[in-house]
Amino acid sequence: MELGASMKDNFLLDKSVAFTNHGSFGPVPKCVFEERMKYHYEQESQPDVWFRMKHLKYYEDSLRAASQFLGGKPENMALVDNVTTGINTIVKSLSFQPGDKVLINSHTYDAVVNVAKEQEDFGGLDVVTVKIPDVLKSEDDVVELFRQEYEKHKTIKLHIIDHISSSSAIVFPVKKLVNLAKEHGALSLIDGAHAPGQVDLNLEDIDADFYAGNFHKWCYVTRSCGFLWFAPRHAGKIRPLVTSHGYKHNLTEQFNFCGTRDLSCIFTIPRALKFYEDVGGLKAIQAHADEMLTYGCKIVAESLGTDLMDVPDHMRAPYMRLVRLPIDKPAVLARADEWTKELAVLYNVQGCFTVVSGKYWIRLSCNVYNEKHDYVRLRDALVEFMKVVEL
Ligand SMILES: Cc1ncc(COP(=O)(O)O)c(C=O)c1O
Repeated sequence: MELGASMKDNFLLDKSVAFTNHGSFGPVPKCVFEERMKYHYEQESQPDVWFRMKHLKYYEDSLRAASQFLGGKPENMALVDNVTTGINTIVKSLSFQPGDKVLINSHTYDAVVNVAKEQEDFGGLDVVTVKIPDVLKSEDDVVELFRQEYEKHKTIKLHIIDHISSSSAIVFPVKKLVNLAKEHGALSLIDGAHAPGQVDLNLEDIDADFYAGNFHKWCYVTRSCGFLWFAPRHAGKIRPLVTSHGYKHNLTEQFNFCGTRDLSCIFTIPRALKFYEDVGGLKAIQAHADEMLTYGCKIVAESLGTDLMDVPDHMRAPYMRLVRLPIDKPAVLARADEWTKELAVLYNVQGCFTVVSGKYWIRLSCNVYNEKHDYVRLRDALVEFMKVVEL
């Protein structure tokens, strides 16, 4: 299957939109959407048969496909709504002592920061935030930053590690950070919202204590669908956020039935992963994204008179890159969020403005349906928008 403009026929995307923000919510291919609809029809035609006889089988089929794709065993994994649910599930299953600390960083996703802060407000856990500097020279610099915090704070019990950060699109050296946590007796919980589908993942090889990831961002599964992986040493310690009939049963039974809830979005995992392979899999998508984003970032940066984020190439997310905006005023996230909406309304261009290190950036995403013209339209819209934008 050829990647680029012709691939748009495989999606329901409005073709009049220049869609350069797959990273936030991502469109789903038609074949996966139709699979989801098939499940809806089947469920409505025989609700009892669906919940009593089909539900568990579909869950197990999806879990098996997910675990093969991720390099983990089904008995160490649960399918959950999304990463937000996954992170909450882990943090709220663990017990902490007064004085224990959780380590996060200045690029940690806001909703995840809130999970940590909630523990500070209600659970007696202190939050330690490492500031990621504006310029990153190497993975080892990043590891060193976190090492210094472990030296300063002897009671860090949990390190929430980004695999790929949202606002800055940086690939963090997760394996090295997991080892650092182990050296200091802390548990590691990886926020992998953006990693599955973008990078080659092998959960057993990373060997974190916990890994929470999304399938709906870069793996084409219908929204919303995430997973949780636990190191076998934690078997039995993690409980779903909501207790239902599966209490004290095996992991699958605990997680697959949370009251009467429609999990058909999750059951599209096998179909979506087949689409992922049909379009060429990781290598083909990475090669396409590299060509598109190299081009897109160059024309956007040249026209705005700015530059890309200063990180080593191998630490840039394969499918997302940032270009700075020519604005000197200290950045405010709420403004950036407003601009994302305004850009779409004014120019029919879906971009994503972000804030990193107090500055404004535009985050460019690429997926299989993007073509160079999408980035030309983004560039033209940005040039016009910079003339009228209200700071
Ligand atoms: C780094 C990161 N963590 C967590 C999340 C939360 O993902 P979800 O909204 O699917 O729960 C996101 C969402 O964009 C993210 O980018």
